[in-house]
Amino acid sequence: MGLEFVLDTEVVRDFVSEVRAEIAAASPAEACERIRPRFAQLLADPVWLPPEYQADAPESGMGGGIGQWLLCRAEDGSLSLFSLVVPAGSETPVHDHLAWGLVGLYRGTQDEEIYARRDHALELLERRSLAPGDFYVLLPPRDDIHRIRTTSDVTSVSIHLLTNDTGCVWRHAYDPDSGEASPFRSGYVNVGCADE
Ligand SMILES: [Fe+2]
Repeated sequence: MGLEFVLDTEVVRDFVSEVRAEIAAASPAEACERIRPRFAQLLADPVWLPPEYQADAPESGMGGGIGQWLLCRAEDGSLSLFSLVVPAGSETPVHDHLAWGLVGLYRGTQDEEIYARRDHALELLERRSLAPGDFYVLLPPRDDIHRIRTTSDVTSVSIHLLTNDTGCVWRHAYDPDSGEASPFRSGYVNVGCADE
């Protein structure tokens, strides 16, 4: 199964190949546990992610300069590694991901609100503040619905390793008041989707 490297460096290639070996060998929860140390290393490494993948994305269509820069994905849609940039003062819609994986903060600070869906309404479960190096395991449906707001005066950059082609799948954005879901596809700033 082929890989598309947009950021084709040794660090990214080594990381992705180790991750794929863990995914092939274990359950999702176990694979995430095994990937944690390598993911923490990536978040702590100040040089592997070039500035262009940390830049605001005013043209992305997500609004507020928010965008997803693809770094690598599997051609069969089973994996993607991307950075999400959220400029100072911007916030994402409330959204889901529909895939398991790891998400961590690389630069800036964020507040995150996590929701659960109850009888078509959204219930705010938790608010947490994230600093660089903080990361969490995402195992849907638990904690899959959230919103991110950048609280730093610089653009926040988070690294997502998820087991779908997150930018290209149709997922959901939610109205936080009514809980109403609408189809949502974020896209990537730097590459297209197969059916575009
Ligand atoms: Fe998200």
